[in-house]
Amino acid sequence: MALPYQMRASMKYLIPLSAVMLLLAIMGFTGVPNVIWGPDSPVFTSTRQWTTGEHLLNWRLRNAPLWLYQGLHAAPAITWSLLMPLQHIDRFRQYWPTFHRRNGYVVLSISLLLSMTGYLMIGKRVAHTHENIFHFHNLSGLLPIGWPSFELSLICWGPIYLYSLFRTIQTAKTKDIATHRKWAVTHTISAYAISLERVSLGVIYIAGWALAIFPKNAVHRFLRIEDTISAKASLELDTFALANIMGFSIAIWWAVNEWRRAQQSTTSWGASFIAILVSRAKISSPTLALDLFANMYLAGTVKFGGGPVFIPLLRSCLVDPGWAYSRDFLIGFPGPISHFAVFLGAPALRTTSYPTFLGAFLGGLGIFFPGISLARQTR
Ligand code: HEM
Repeated sequence: MALPYQMRASMKYLIPLSAVMLLLAIMGFTGVPNVIWGPDSPVFTSTRQWTTGEHLLNWRLRNAPLWLYQGLHAAPAITWSLLMPLQHIDRFRQYWPTFHRRNGYVVLSISLLLSMTGYLMIGKRVAHTHENIFHFHNLSGLLPIGWPSFELSLICWGPIYLYSLFRTIQTAKTKDIATHRKWAVTHTISAYAISLERVSLGVIYIAGWALAIFPKNAVHRFLRIEDTISAKASLELDTFALANIMGFSIAIWWAVNEWRRAQQSTTSWGASFIAILVSRAKISSPTLALDLFANMYLAGTVKFGGGPVFIPLLRSCLVDPGWAYSRDFLIGFPGPISHFAVFLGAPALRTTSYPTFLGAFLGGLGIFFPGISLARQTR
């Protein structure tokens, strides 16, 4: 049976994003090497703490309660990053549904834990945030538009993250699988937004290293800052908050794209199906060619399961209207079942002025198009 595009979180993205989170979570235990991120590194190549100049991760390791930061956030983040991609492997879901269900509850519980401990870290002021959470950053007046603090944007993200988490669990419990899939993908993307934020920060660091090619004085003059730790830290706090906005924007674009694709495909799949059947019904004397195509399109769309279920369907579509002889049907029978449609489409047009190869072509197109379009959309 041809089905419309289903929302998915592709492994192409999940695996690298999980790898980024794993790396950061490990650094949450080991710290980062000061050689690269020391107090003297060029502006925008670090996220330095404004008094000591050390990288924020190293500062946090010395100041945050480790039971919270490592025990209830970084360590669960490692498990989450390993288990979440497994939820999106189709074969795992098909062959080990019990594993999918149990793993799902584990991952979603960790999602909840991560959000609770994440917000607790913000509340305990161990995150890299501005004193005033309602502050708008704009690189110390260098840019005309501003963006909210790291803290505020994370708080605004909370409803999306938590609502999608709640709907994923709710639809799993009611066994509304199609809706469950949508919310599971949405929640996954909303959680990977955290990883996209770290990737965005990486891009900012790369830009910082590119800027470091120019003479330091010129760069500082351009940025209107002194060569001090606190001046550099202040600008880096702006970019740290900017990384959040970049990560969340990519996640929104990703999720909206998935929702739109699923919506469009359902609409176009349903519309094409209805259009073909309605036009056949409405045309007072449809040509045999249109009739043949419509029958094959219907068969190609509704066939579900292996070849044998297809035999009576094809027989009623081709032999019953008198387009093919029962004998021809049996001759074609040992071949691959769907290819029948091509083989029998030719004799179907033998009594018309159309060339018989058109019948073969229409039979093949009608049977295979729904499946091919599905394969293309779900790639
Ligand atoms: C709403 C959900 C979440 C909130 C509010 C949150 C919040 C936070 C905060 C405030 C920090 C410290 C940030 C800083 O000062 O730099 C942090 C660190 C971290 N978070 Fe989360 N988090 C959430 C979800 C997640 C998820 C889903 C993961 C995924 C695996 C994750 C993995 C990590 C890791 C590995 C760290 C430590 C390394 C680092 O700071 O980059 N978090 N989180």
